[in-house]
Amino acid sequence: MNSANSTNPADSTNPANNTQPEKTKAVTALLPIFAFIKPYKLVVAGAMLALLLTAGINLSLGQGVKYIVDHGFIAGSSEQLGNAILVLIGLIALLSIGTFSRFYLVSWLGERVSADIRKAVFNRIVQLHPSYFEENRSGELMSRLTTDTTLLQSIIGSSLSMALRSTLMLIGGLIMLLITNLKLTLLVVAFVPLVLAPMIISGRKVRRLSAHSQDAIADISTYAGEIIQNIKVVQSYTHEQREKNAFEGEVEKAFKVAKKRIAQRALLIAAIIFLTFSAISVMLYVGGMDVLEGNITGGELSAFVFYAIMVAMSVATVAEVYGELQRAAGSSQRLLELLATKSDINSPQTPLPFSQEQEPEIVFKNVEFNYPSRPDMPALKNINLTIPKGKIIALVGPSGAGKTTMFELLQRFYDPQQGQISFNGNNITQLDLTDLRKTMGMVPQHPVLFSSDVWHNIRYGNVDASDEAVIEAAKRAHAHEFIEKLPEGYASFLGEQGVRLSGGQKQRIALARAILKDPQILLLDEATSALDAQSEFHVQAALNELMKDRTTLIIAHRLSTVVHADLIVVMDQGQIVDIGDHKSLLASDPLYQRLCALQFDKAS
Ligand SMILES: Nc1ncnc2c1ncn2[C@@H]1O[C@H](COP(=O)(O)OP(=O)(O)O)[C@@H](O)[C@H]1O
Ligand SMILES: [Mg+2]
Repeated sequence: MNSANSTNPADSTNPANNTQPEKTKAVTALLPIFAFIKPYKLVVAGAMLALLLTAGINLSLGQGVKYIVDHGFIAGSSEQLGNAILVLIGLIALLSIGTFSRFYLVSWLGERVSADIRKAVFNRIVQLHPSYFEENRSGELMSRLTTDTTLLQSIIGSSLSMALRSTLMLIGGLIMLLITNLKLTLLVVAFVPLVLAPMIISGRKVRRLSAHSQDAIADISTYAGEIIQNIKVVQSYTHEQREKNAFEGEVEKAFKVAKKRIAQRALLIAAIIFLTFSAISVMLYVGGMDVLEGNITGGELSAFVFYAIMVAMSVATVAEVYGELQRAAGSSQRLLELLATKSDINSPQTPLPFSQEQEPEIVFKNVEFNYPSRPDMPALKNINLTIPKGKIIALVGPSGAGKTTMFELLQRFYDPQQGQISFNGNNITQLDLTDLRKTMGMVPQHPVLFSSDVWHNIRYGNVDASDEAVIEAAKRAHAHEFIEKLPEGYASFLGEQGVRLSGGQKQRIALARAILKDPQILLLDEATSALDAQSEFHVQAALNELMKDRTTLIIAHRLSTVVHADLIVVMDQGQIVDIGDHKSLLASDPLYQRLCALQFDKAS
């Protein structure tokens, strides 16, 4: 997809593709995750106990094997054999209980911790300043919430305990080997590097390939997501075949990467099996000779083989898990980065008191602003504007003039680089963010609906509102009538983004939401493009109702709205070019005259 970047493995702008620091991203990057494990100390202790128990039993099983061979088979005593088997079954029962506890507790921990991290990450995300989301693709944030946390869950919930268990077994197994037979142990130890070498070499390759594989899968889902969302445009332009081909390309690319990874892995497994079993065969030969010569017993040799296999398996597990831990270290780092991201827009430590009583007087003073993503292009220049209480102020101007940006600054989605906006003489940066936003009701240009029913969508304006209040708001928004005609009335599901409604209907639902909030200041980004004459009549009537007796800022596109405004602010290219009422502006302002002649810009 990103051919310009694919040649550059150190593409540091995209952490998901960042394979470069994989080596340096030591497993220590996982350490901060322990802060999330800390609250569950008891569970950890229980898991550790179970771990020790099972490792201990596993190790003692080798002694059982030795006993059975020497005292049962070799001695030819059926009674001793029976006893030995009984003891063995007892041990195995204990082992099962230990394994159950370990598995349950450790998996529980993995699920619990990843749930906690998921919540923490989401809590962080919803608090972040909007410009963060312009710089970070939503798909990437989603993948942190889901893929990265899932990876951590599998690490904490299994890999970590596997690593611990295998380390215990490895150390214990080696000690038991030494106790059982020194000469053979040295033989085993000599073989270990032989087995480890290919693992380490090819493990690194496998890891890089699997990271690529994951990126490829992420690309696939991003691609498919976009097509599904815009299916009507795709079909209308009859691009189905093109999209099929493009998607096929993505899928095949992912498959190619996966194929390489699989081949690498299969080779690795085969090599390890060959080396391990060759080593064991050699050992069997050397040990077998010793048994034949009477230097050691058959039981000793059996126990020895048992421990040798255990050690080999542990080494393999540790090496494999280590690779996974490194991968998880990447996830952990990304998650912690996100968790540590501070919002640019915050409430002050000690906010000024906020009078809830009456609507405030709003003053823009020398405001200069550019969007963070466009540092060289001012969106607002030298804005000075006083918005009196209880009046209707219309913002008019061509598309791109900066009208919507005024609303964004008022709600503190961004802070201006220079100048200030004040409520009743207090800079809004000195006020509590929640208090500030509670005073305002916003009806955006493109109404936003959630994939739920009408109740939920209107009640978003005031979650405590009664059913009656919701219906009342809908009536005042001229929405009640069409809502009643929906298949299930207010309980009708509106589909994702409200796809089951027309533009005008969506807008009236958004209006009802604002009416229910009953804000002191109303911000209306009036959109007419989506409305037919009938809806326009209804929306206009609803607006008139809504604007009564409160400070209203309206980005107006209809002459009818503008004429009713107490004050008209004409904007162009980020600046206020004129302020006045309809009559005086019509007489003096050429831009206003032009806008009126065009019946305002219907599309902006
Ligand atoms: N999120 C954004 N990031 C960067 N530039 C933006 C963003 N939103 C708007 N702009 C730019 O800021 C200018 C003013 O936009 P806006 O306030 O939306 O105009 P309008 O008067 O049509 O509502 C335009 O040039 C627009 O391209
Ligand atoms: Mg706009």
